[in-house]
Amino acid sequence: MADVGKRLPENVAGEFFVDSTCINCLNCSSMAPQFFRQAGAHQVVYRQPESADEVRLAMQILVSCPVGAIGTVNRAALKEVMADFPLLIEDEVYFCGFNSPKTAGAASYFIKHADGNWLVCAPKFLPQLVSKFEELGGLSYIFLTHRDDVGDSDKYAARFGARRIIHGNDLDSSPQAEIVIETAEPLTPAGISSDFLVIPQPGHTEGHCALLYRNKFLFSGDELKPDRAGHLLDTWDPFWTWYSFERQTESAEKLGQHKFQWILPSHGQRMKIDAAEVPALVQEAVNRARAIADTEPMTMERVNNLREYAADLRKWGQVEYAEKVESRAAAVQSKLGMHGTF
Ligand SMILES: [Fe+2]
Repeated sequence: MADVGKRLPENVAGEFFVDSTCINCLNCSSMAPQFFRQAGAHQVVYRQPESADEVRLAMQILVSCPVGAIGTVNRAALKEVMADFPLLIEDEVYFCGFNSPKTAGAASYFIKHADGNWLVCAPKFLPQLVSKFEELGGLSYIFLTHRDDVGDSDKYAARFGARRIIHGNDLDSSPQAEIVIETAEPLTPAGISSDFLVIPQPGHTEGHCALLYRNKFLFSGDELKPDRAGHLLDTWDPFWTWYSFERQTESAEKLGQHKFQWILPSHGQRMKIDAAEVPALVQEAVNRARAIADTEPMTMERVNNLREYAADLRKWGQVEYAEKVESRAAAVQSKLGMHGTF
């Protein structure tokens, strides 16, 4: 848990705080924008929870923090709060909590299904989650939206005999995956319930896919997410696009053809909307993306951002791909040197 000695000065006084080990994954401010917000390169507590329900929510967020950067003066209730997970979102869809630093703190989800349960991306591999999944009927499938969110999926696959699903273009991040998506078009893999549709969405990474469940829940990975206020869809950021901003925009545009109500991203706010609003919301975000002139930023910020991503990839064991990203960072840096205007 967080170290009070590292408490960030921007936190408001009180029981809960964020310390300087925060990796800015946005999980806390996505789950509770009423308590957490951005301050420089970190999230901080700007309003303390007051009611019992608010304190419970803050404790759940503390448990979900991938790096244990959220602290509380009162630790007594923590064990009880850990038993709350996975947290029901709606119907048979749950948020797993226990976000993993091996996925840059991505959210993961659990779907209870008559033909076998699903995990969408992977939380930390922890005994209390394993026993909860067991109680809920185990795991049959683990859907990996893209190479950044593989995390502890191998451990869950081994423990439950679950089959991992990933697109072939990101396969080197999960080379043992049992079901490999090779198409560019949406499909339900053979033998899987038609409740599930895999939608290839190249852009953020080349092999990025979304998962649409029962035309109601869109697990959007890092392609599409609501804005902080939960009113609009955020425009994807060229600084956080690893493959192609233009392809990401095309991929997002295609999502407007599908029906869904819930947008459940890897990072950022979860949102429920009227399915009839989807085409207009998606198109609005696409229009904003097409208005961005500089979709491959030639700046030192971009160089540093690519290098940080490459360092993460190395930590996650994706060494060959890390080398490609490092080469790209070097190419941008060399162009900066040639032009000398940045
Ligand atoms: Fe990602």
